[in-house]
Amino acid sequence: MNKNRMIVLENVTKSYGEKAALQGISFDVENGELCVLIGPSGCGKSTTLKLINRMLEPDGGEILIEGRSVRDFKPELLRRKIGYVIQSIGLFPHMKVSQNIAVVPSLLKWERKRIGERVDYLLELVGLDPAIYRDKYPNELSGGEAQRIGVARALASDPPLLLMDEPFGAVDPLNREILQVEFLKIQRKLKKTVILVTHDLDEAIKLADKIVIMDMGRIVQIGQPENILSKPANSFVRNFVGTDRAIKRLSRFQVADYMNRASSTTIRRLKESNYKEAASRRESRFLWITDEMGILTGWIDFKNFKESDRLEEGITHVDPSNFAVRAEFTLKESLSRMLSQGVRSLPVTDEKNRLIGEINLSTIEKLTELEE
Ligand SMILES: Nc1ncnc2c1ncn2[C@@H]1O[C@H](COP(=O)(O)OP(=O)(O)OP(=O)(O)O)[C@@H](O)[C@H]1O
Ligand SMILES: [Mg+2]
Repeated sequence: MNKNRMIVLENVTKSYGEKAALQGISFDVENGELCVLIGPSGCGKSTTLKLINRMLEPDGGEILIEGRSVRDFKPELLRRKIGYVIQSIGLFPHMKVSQNIAVVPSLLKWERKRIGERVDYLLELVGLDPAIYRDKYPNELSGGEAQRIGVARALASDPPLLLMDEPFGAVDPLNREILQVEFLKIQRKLKKTVILVTHDLDEAIKLADKIVIMDMGRIVQIGQPENILSKPANSFVRNFVGTDRAIKRLSRFQVADYMNRASSTTIRRLKESNYKEAASRRESRFLWITDEMGILTGWIDFKNFKESDRLEEGITHVDPSNFAVRAEFTLKESLSRMLSQGVRSLPVTDEKNRLIGEINLSTIEKLTELEE
């Protein structure tokens, strides 16, 4: 038994009456891994989660947590081990936010003081001010805030395992992205073992260490997002991930890992040197331009001017915060910026807009060459 395997499903089947919801699914999730279940509506995602935390019992097969069958866990122990974010949030409307978060700790009979501290800690963790939110009722929350409370509630007893059923499904795309990024930060800090269900492939690609693609009660492919996008197992997966899978795959790569050294100069240095001669010796027509502090101000194209006293004609001034990318950006974001700006390379700047490198279209093109 591999110790790292936190959850193992072996040939699990489940029917609702005549309807076979799961037709023998097997996969495992390692300790600290974020596994995303994805597939069309009705393929059995929610059923899978409910079997793991024993809201439902399987008809056949085995489900193990840390090597032990879930049937051997007492329900209250299972509840302590597993945080569950249910589809459509499911906050209790008549309970305050603090009481909603404290459901499991209360069941576990924690002391009142410990519960209060835990609630405040979790509200801060999900980015909500405890003083403002702890006494609100669910109908006083926006969709995104309610989702955050749902996540806080699932984390309440500090379970090693989180099951999340479309945790960000009910929020608009913009807030969904914010919640995804915040959840990733929380996950990097807490390193829970997570099974997250979603319909949204971009969400899966952004969050998953491993993706399990399901269709009609079966698993059609398991793999890292990169591999699923580059090598779809069959036409179902190929259709599911879509024709733009090469582009989607780029959101798995960060600028930091692919940027190159950038050549730059300053206006003063350009003026002092015989820049035309310098230009003729360079392989590149372009140089980034920074001020004396290294802050990006633009670029120079040596082809665009003839006379040495008309330096300005070759220079394009840019607003670094709109033009440059940051090391933590994804290559997908970089590519869309290149396309919208019509350039083949973009400067990479730090938080003070200082030039730290460049990212090139040729690098991105290489990464999108997929095996067919
Ligand atoms: N209580 C139930 N009684 C009968 N059939 C059910 C029940 N719950 C689910 N099903 C059926 O089992 C199948 C799997 O349902 P499940 O809820 O697991 O799907 P899902 O993948 O979570 O879908 P969605 O993305 O729409 O949430 C579906 O065909 C559904 O109609
Ligand atoms: Mg569901």
